[in-house]
Amino acid sequence: MTTPLLPATATAAHATAPGKPLHDTSRRVDLVSDGLGLDPHEYATQLQQVVDAGAIDADNYSCGGAIGRLEALFAKLLGKPAAMYVPTGTLANHLAVRRLAGDDRRVLVQAESHLYNDSGDGAQALSGLNLVPLAPGQATLRLADVQPWVERSRGGRVRNEVGVIAIETPVRRRDHAMADFGELERISAYAREQGIRLHLDGARLFTLPLHSGRPVTAYAALFDSVYVSLWKNFNGAGGAILAGSEAFIDGLFHQRRMFGGALPSAWPQVALVEAYANRFEDDYARAWRAADELVGHLEASGRFRARRLPDGSSRFFLSVAGVAPELVAERARGRGIVLAWPHPDTGEFPVQVNPTLLRLPPAELARRLLDSLDG
Ligand SMILES: Cc1ncc(COP(=O)(O)O)c(C=O)c1O
Repeated sequence: MTTPLLPATATAAHATAPGKPLHDTSRRVDLVSDGLGLDPHEYATQLQQVVDAGAIDADNYSCGGAIGRLEALFAKLLGKPAAMYVPTGTLANHLAVRRLAGDDRRVLVQAESHLYNDSGDGAQALSGLNLVPLAPGQATLRLADVQPWVERSRGGRVRNEVGVIAIETPVRRRDHAMADFGELERISAYAREQGIRLHLDGARLFTLPLHSGRPVTAYAALFDSVYVSLWKNFNGAGGAILAGSEAFIDGLFHQRRMFGGALPSAWPQVALVEAYANRFEDDYARAWRAADELVGHLEASGRFRARRLPDGSSRFFLSVAGVAPELVAERARGRGIVLAWPHPDTGEFPVQVNPTLLRLPPAELARRLLDSLDG
């Protein structure tokens, strides 16, 4: 209980300390976002809470203050000696492979990766790297995919070493399927033996321990550098962390600035992140328990079917019989449930598991979805 005599800011200061849970009043269940999908009002309200709690010091061009604090937190969470804030994951991946490659400009990547598909060939155009896409259609890059390319690059008429292997897991373009951990270990051991550097695009890395049984530090340890998104699972307005050794991070902020990536004030982007990063893995595990319960209710009704990927992480699929799925999505929205648009070929809804599932009891959520079938 808060006393009505205290001004709002003082009550908030008691309620929220650095890294403590934020007061979240929304009841919307958002089955599309990686995190809470905060709208501008919700974001501004929570920003006010952290600022009132005195938890935020301004940074200076993305250095120090709240940014320095977040860098230290993520270095610790990932088990790396150092970390740097970057305003986008796109730039974090680019800066990482650029620095790790040095003069060995061939970079092996998954054909399905963000770095290969969704970065406008930025690493090629802006940093002169040659990205070689491997294992099309697959979430897992295997040692058997990598080894022939390393040997071919080394043994060519013009010797041209592979400098970096960059791996994304979970893989967004494969519905967040996980790369096989055993293959990651094999590739890492081989790359280290060959003097090849390793980068991990772990935009959503913190979802993986629940599914693979491996802590985030076990993933990070296999790579020289790791990127994690601050806005997907941790409710930042944007931003990314790039972590690695002291030598890897040392002076890297000059390159961040060169690419126009030093925001004069980055703190409003990431002010909520610390509170959510500290609790994400617990909330995510509880959200999956709620999702399992929800699926139990829906399948028991005989009107919904659920499909999971064998190597999946945060996504499963729902299908409905006897009603246009678009109508269901529209009606569910009116009941406070945000469903993705159904797949045009299969009619399946991709369902993203996130902590908004904890905002309603699973039985109530199931009731609203079942009601959405009929009107
Ligand atoms: C796997 C992966 N890597 C990198 C990025 C890029 O992140 P940003 O949008 O912050 O540039 C994304 C964004 O969707 C992503 O899904």
